Amino acid sequence: MNNASWLIPDADPPEWSLPADIRARDALGGRDCGWVNQMRPFIRHFSSPGHRVLDPFCGFGTTLLGAHLEGRHGLGFEIDPDRAALARERLQRHGLHADIRVGSINGLDAGRANLCLTNVPYFGCGWTGATVDGQLYLQPTYADFLSGIRGVFHAVRQTLEDGGFCIAMAQNLVVAGRRFPLAWDVARILDSLFVAHEERVLCYPAAALPANPGSTKTNRSHEYALVYQKRRETVDLKGTAEVLEALRLSGFSYELFGSFQQWQEQGQPIAARLPADADLLLPLEQDQLNALLRWLSARGFQLTLWGEPIAPSLPLETWQSHHYVRADCRGRDGSLIRLDLCCEPKSTSARG
Ligand SMILES: C[S@@+](CC[C@H](N)C(=O)[O-])C[C@H]1O[C@@H](n2cnc3c(N)ncnc32)[C@H](O)[C@@H]1O
Repeated sequence: MNNASWLIPDADPPEWSLPADIRARDALGGRDCGWVNQMRPFIRHFSSPGHRVLDPFCGFGTTLLGAHLEGRHGLGFEIDPDRAALARERLQRHGLHADIRVGSINGLDAGRANLCLTNVPYFGCGWTGATVDGQLYLQPTYADFLSGIRGVFHAVRQTLEDGGFCIAMAQNLVVAGRRFPLAWDVARILDSLFVAHEERVLCYPAAALPANPGSTKTNRSHEYALVYQKRRETVDLKGTAEVLEALRLSGFSYELFGSFQQWQEQGQPIAARLPADADLLLPLEQDQLNALLRWLSARGFQLTLWGEPIAPSLPLETWQSHHYVRADCRGRDGSLIRLDLCCEPKSTSARG
């Protein structure tokens, strides 16, 4: 892989592509099957021989076959039992006994993986296969679909080793003439779970026809490889300390805990152990909490609840059910101040 921000994968040779008889037995005729050659450069570049490559949406086992060809071990999760059987059959024909587990990674034990490489499911693809709980192709709304995607990548983060990359291939979609910014939304979800690195645009050879003047329709023959890493964020420690002090001076009560508090008390010289955020424990008082959210919002902090943007006002029940609100302030110099705001249980809210 070179450092170009785009990649044109070669089509798979017949020996690696999905065999026609397997394709014919699939509910979608294998139309959502990727290419081995699309995956191999990423496997080579982001993992080492002997590593374990995870695909949480393994479909027909394309990533697992690529992993095998590159001397890695593949681990796949596929929610649809018929697809999982087709993937096993495909890989068996290559002499491979693939580790494919039927189900969603959230809820199953995956052990440890060095790299996650996957193609996310397409929203609104008209799935006609089995009705299985958790099948993202069958989610009734885009919000349900994205929430399912978040659940899967949350579990991926727990499985991935520190420093491991999570690469999701996704494209923006047009469903019934309406555009769905799937790639952007997947990136936003990954942003809340991992540290963003890069995106590569994958371009697939496709015939280009003349476009009528003013027509916005393209042949949509590209997608994005969104490259993320599981590692600690680098935050602006001095800026964080200044914000914490400003909060105190503005009359907000909080108790600092976690890595930032330890770092302030003890000083940690080892970069790897530097705090990646500041954890604040706040009294469970509606007016104070909303005032704090407004204070932060007015100073350029973006507020999110489990990765989703929120307005600077939140009911107490939501604080209690979601455990924390994240406040990120990104400066024009690229700096990041990250506060994780948690609430004390009501009974102990006198602390701080
Ligand atoms: C785009 S396809 C992956 C195709 C695969 N990259 C290949 O080339 O063989 C997405 C797959 O995700 C599966 N899927 C949907 N929801 C899932 C979930 N919650 N957990 C695991 N797999 C799921 C679908 O059944 C589908 O096979």
